[in-house]
Amino acid sequence: MTQQNSDPAYKVDALIAEDIDAYLEQHQNKQLLRFITCGSVDDGKSTLIGRLLYDSKMIFEDQLASLENDSKKVGTQGQEIDFALLVDGLAAEREQGITIDVAYRFFGTEKRKFIVADCPGHEQYTRNMVTGASTADLAVILIDARKGVLVQTRRHSYLCHLLGIRNIVLAVNKMDLIGYDQAKYDAIVADYQAFADEIGIEHFVPMPISGFKGDNITGKSANTPWFDGIPLVEHLETVELNNTLNQAKPFRMPVQWVNRPNLDFRGFSGLVSTGSIKPGDPVRVLPSGKTSTVKSIVTFDGEQDEALAGQSVTICLADEVDCSRGDVLATADAPPESSDQFEATLVWMNDEAMKPGRGYWMKLGSQMVTATVQHPKYEININTMDHLAAKTLELNSIGVAEVATDKPIVFEPYGDNRALGGFILIDKITNATVAAGMLHFSLRRAQNVHWQPTDISRESHAAMKNQTPRVLWFTGLSGSGKSTIANEVEKQLNLMNRHTFLLDGDNVRHGLNKDLGFTEADRIENIRRVGEVAKLMVDAGLIVLTAFISPFRAERRMVRDMLPEGEFIEIFVDTPLEVAEQRDVKGLYKKARSGELKNFTGIDSPYEAPENAEIRVNTVEMSVEEAAEHIIRQILPLK
Ligand code: ADX
Repeated sequence: MTQQNSDPAYKVDALIAEDIDAYLEQHQNKQLLRFITCGSVDDGKSTLIGRLLYDSKMIFEDQLASLENDSKKVGTQGQEIDFALLVDGLAAEREQGITIDVAYRFFGTEKRKFIVADCPGHEQYTRNMVTGASTADLAVILIDARKGVLVQTRRHSYLCHLLGIRNIVLAVNKMDLIGYDQAKYDAIVADYQAFADEIGIEHFVPMPISGFKGDNITGKSANTPWFDGIPLVEHLETVELNNTLNQAKPFRMPVQWVNRPNLDFRGFSGLVSTGSIKPGDPVRVLPSGKTSTVKSIVTFDGEQDEALAGQSVTICLADEVDCSRGDVLATADAPPESSDQFEATLVWMNDEAMKPGRGYWMKLGSQMVTATVQHPKYEININTMDHLAAKTLELNSIGVAEVATDKPIVFEPYGDNRALGGFILIDKITNATVAAGMLHFSLRRAQNVHWQPTDISRESHAAMKNQTPRVLWFTGLSGSGKSTIANEVEKQLNLMNRHTFLLDGDNVRHGLNKDLGFTEADRIENIRRVGEVAKLMVDAGLIVLTAFISPFRAERRMVRDMLPEGEFIEIFVDTPLEVAEQRDVKGLYKKARSGELKNFTGIDSPYEAPENAEIRVNTVEMSVEEAAEHIIRQILPLK
């Protein structure tokens, strides 16, 4: 190493060797561009990434991590890395990683640092690509110059556009293999332009490259004198970042947590998603709508005179207004809307298909609510962009549906604000992330229906009947004895002068729910309606008994959550399938076994037994009277 070397990469090496702290600090202050590379394996994605890492003599993620861990260690940039070996390594890594997740690589040039998400391109990995694209500023869509625009190109471009990536690079790769033919390149670009127009991609930057030979990667290639654009790395180093674009929008910051180390300090911490704010500016806390002004802005580096989109800050307000995690701080004169009903695009990411009507946790920024999704309006064929009719969404499918939340959330359309328009759905039982979603707009009806307060409270209703209202929720297989035992319990309660009502599956299905069958979606809706009715009856002061198979834990939990703590008592009528089938009071098991009756619980439709029911009765060991007595003993005193 000599001081005379003017190669920029060499200077980086020298700086690392001399003063690792200075190097890391310089690196820390560089802007970060997150991008995603898309294309199928044959498009040369690994080769391109290898070329980027190799040619730019960038700092590799693992080296950087080890530098950060041990600042005395000196980087290995001076060593010769064999390009072919590097590419082979990446390809092998990708092939292993392909079944797992998105591979993120961290590297930097003198101007910027980068995180590249390398996602597998096959259709079965749509969810991986959505994950990678959801945080990217830019997408490099790779095309094999010999093949032109393929189905994958369209699918990847569509997903990137859907996930809000506005910087798209069309990298026409393997130009060396078509003899750097301008006419062929132009034809591919024109073809892509037509597709881009069709799906609403307003702008993309085409480039003729060769990942293998290095054309137009770090420098302009002599092989494409007709190309008047800039090379890929220069584009990555100079393209406008989302954060910069977002600064022009109105100020919004979802509050991640309230920072109150002592009585004198109370600050609201979070990542500024759009806009900027200064001390003295008026702000509004949402959803409450209370206003105040910014007193100060604090970061790790001390007090700041401005907070910009993309920065994590703590904001102190001039007044003691209520504000907690999940609230949003916004500019006072143009705040975002709140709503509880939306249209949204959903990407289904779970092996288990979407269940219309089921309650999932919805996480939107720092807000967490329960959301139910209705039948999709349509599913999108991501290869042709056609709209298809759909009853549900399977793994990797994308559709548009109405989503309702149990309380209003502060939101913005995803196209305007990823942080306030992008959400995930989480299964309440397994905690798995089942979907990613993008809010389009609030449904108008949500704005026009308000809760009407009434004077006679649920407490007054209960007091008048001199009892403590409850829901006794019987669950179990068909023929397990739910109705019989519930009926006996109701009789006993009536003898004790209790005001009760029994909602029975077969009966409710003759009236309120006569439009419902036995598909999973219909059973979910059945229980949702019964839950709502039971809740009204409890509000009216009654002790409600329900006898429904209610086969899914999620919906039993949903009804439990609809009621105040302790008012939902789950009673598991635990009769083994063999016993219920042997009894076969209605002859339905026989029909189900012969294939005459489809979707029969326990045969070809699942039953999820309760794990923590308040009461369990074993009908093999107990008679109906004993079971009823056992239940009454447990629920008394109901005053
Ligand atoms: S639930 O699954 O939606 O909770 P519900 O309790 O309302 O079911 O109705 C179950 C009753 O419907 C059974 O007791 C049985 O008499 C009748 N039935 C008819 N078809 C089916 C079926 N495919 N699966 C289960 N029960 C059925």
